[in-house]
Amino acid sequence: MKVISVSNIKGGSGKSTTAAHLACALARRGKTLVVDMDMQGDLTDYCLPDLDLSSLDESNVMTVLLGMKRMTECIRETKQFDVLPSTLSLAKLTKYNPDSSSLCLQFKRALDEVRNTYKFVIIDTPGSAKHELTTAIYNSELILIPVTPSKWTIRAVNLLLDEITQTETIFSQKKKTAFVPSWFGPSKKHRELLEKLKQIEEIPTLGEIPKSETIKSKTEKQEPLKKDSNAWHAFDRLADESIALVDPEHSIFSLKP
Ligand SMILES: Nc1ncnc2c1ncn2[C@@H]1O[C@H](COP(=O)(O)OP(=O)(O)OP(=O)(O)O)[C@@H](O)[C@H]1O
Ligand SMILES: [Mg+2]
Repeated sequence: MKVISVSNIKGGSGKSTTAAHLACALARRGKTLVVDMDMQGDLTDYCLPDLDLSSLDESNVMTVLLGMKRMTECIRETKQFDVLPSTLSLAKLTKYNPDSSSLCLQFKRALDEVRNTYKFVIIDTPGSAKHELTTAIYNSELILIPVTPSKWTIRAVNLLLDEITQTETIFSQKKKTAFVPSWFGPSKKHRELLEKLKQIEEIPTLGEIPKSETIKSKTEKQEPLKKDSNAWHAFDRLADESIALVDPEHSIFSLKP
């Protein structure tokens, strides 16, 4: 089982959009679990548009993080993938458990329950340095960092990289990271950002996800991308690139140096 987080401390950088369509692409390659760790629930909305809110209160990512329910009791099945949904009450997570290390370990135990069930787990994280982010980083092998040009992009990336380094140091782990230029076009500011990212050592930049009205509207309408469209191919390629990073031996795809 390969666990991949989609993270950036900057809000609106394309995390949930990337997580949603990457999950669709990964699900074509193996059984996939989608975990929404953002209380905003954008990924939950995309994956489970008809979710019954009364049943959500009893079983969601928060009940798993607090050890109140088993992972398998909280997972919802869809045609494409399985989903561990988020809930607004995740806003109170740290009130119930302020210890991020124990949340990391609790979620690891939960993932251990399903380690033989899924080939891929994809986790969407909040746009801030909350315990949910630490928990996702701790439990992931690869952290994909969607980036889009803004005044704050590089600062936000550095904050996230600090957070990843801290988690690695505390738990003696080593993570893989990669940038995903999301919401990208040919303009000068996009090219300049790519140049700046190249200067951050040892972190590869994966293929660009184009800025596209189709991606925006399909995501908002909670629909999959049309097979063989440009957008579909961009996320299909991202799935191959991600697998090349987490499972190079079984990848038919080799990343350019
Ligand atoms: N490739 C794209 N083309 C066009 N619009 C996009 C693209 N990617 C994301 N968007 C739009 O950008 C906005 C922010 O995207 P998204 O919600 O994925 O970001 P986020 O990082 O998850 O935000 P948050 O931090 O609030 O969770 C959304 O309206 C989404 O539709
Ligand atoms: Mg989001």
